[in-house]
Amino acid sequence: MKPREIKPGIYWVGAIDWDRRLFDSLIPLPDGTSYNSYLIKGSEKTALIDTVDPTMQDVLINNLSELGVKSIDYVVANHAEQDHSGAIPQVLEKYPKAKVVVTPKCKGMLIDLLMIPEERFITVNDKETISLGDRTLEFIHAPWVHWPETMLTYLREDKILFPCDFFGSHLATTDLYVRDGGQVYEAAKRYYAEIMMPFRTIIQKNLEKVKDYAIELIAPSHGPMHDRPEFILKAYHSWAFDEPKNIVVLPYISMHGSTRKMVEYLVGALAERGVTVKQFDLAVTDIGKLAMALVDAATVVIGTPTVLIGPHPNVAYAAILANALRPNLKFISIIGSYGWGGKAVEQLAAMIPNLKVEILEPVLSKGFPKEADFKALDSLATAIAEKHKEEGFA
Ligand code: FEO
Repeated sequence: MKPREIKPGIYWVGAIDWDRRLFDSLIPLPDGTSYNSYLIKGSEKTALIDTVDPTMQDVLINNLSELGVKSIDYVVANHAEQDHSGAIPQVLEKYPKAKVVVTPKCKGMLIDLLMIPEERFITVNDKETISLGDRTLEFIHAPWVHWPETMLTYLREDKILFPCDFFGSHLATTDLYVRDGGQVYEAAKRYYAEIMMPFRTIIQKNLEKVKDYAIELIAPSHGPMHDRPEFILKAYHSWAFDEPKNIVVLPYISMHGSTRKMVEYLVGALAERGVTVKQFDLAVTDIGKLAMALVDAATVVIGTPTVLIGPHPNVAYAAILANALRPNLKFISIIGSYGWGGKAVEQLAAMIPNLKVEILEPVLSKGFPKEADFKALDSLATAIAEKHKEEGFA
């Protein structure tokens, strides 16, 4: 994709990665992604906001050449992660007068990660500004969205916020701005769930901080720009602040059908009691979908057979992931089956220390579930429905 003008003197110069399917060797990218970089020309100075993933650095360099950029004064690195910083060394090589503008913490990280020489940096404090002549960059420290060094850049005269990962979405699209709201909402929620949710309370503070600014355009470093900022601000507010909903997420594995039978029974019992259930077979599920479901859920019920005295390894993986993502859950339970004994419940409980949840009575069946097991599942469904009602989860 060639450079695209956003406003006179402000250009999108990033790269679209249509074919990438995995991030951090962990996160599925069903819709690819983009690495957005923005060039801002002031009457006296020129700034580049973030760069691109090193695999696409030539696209960025070509875009700058295409625009005839002869010099860059500032390369603003809002975030040290390599999908935005990875092309900084090549930009510095091509533009030898350019300085990298960072938070003090980001400076140390970029020296560690990319071996950028110390003399190439300018560090900025919270709310500090740099003038480009007729345009002013203001830097807003916003740690933990989603690393400790992150900041946002606000272009005062144009009322544009460049928040890097914050408000972003992994979405490859030719749309410069959000045009398919449903698609972007889904991608942005997936992004929030996987990247931002572990820092929910800090996200709340950063959302409050952003409220002080008049914003006409949010230009994140992944996915399309928000020319109707209230769309994404409202969505983030809801994800970060809302109470959980009357939803059970049920990730499970079944090897020979016993656990699946219990899962099917419990799903039906919960639905009869007015509880929404989202069921995920971990053998085939996209973990991004699971993460998204966790944003709103009040309860998780994990379904597992017993394998070598513990939970099935796929279930252990999902439990560790949920523990890391720190969703705002209130209740958890475990259902499943065993052949001759085991410690699946104890082992799973030990894998989720970050989740401040009440554990509801697990239901474990010896072999295929029988009448007593189905009764226990009915009791579990009743307990969940009552707990949700007591807490006022709609
Ligand atoms: Fe898009 Fe945290 O990097």
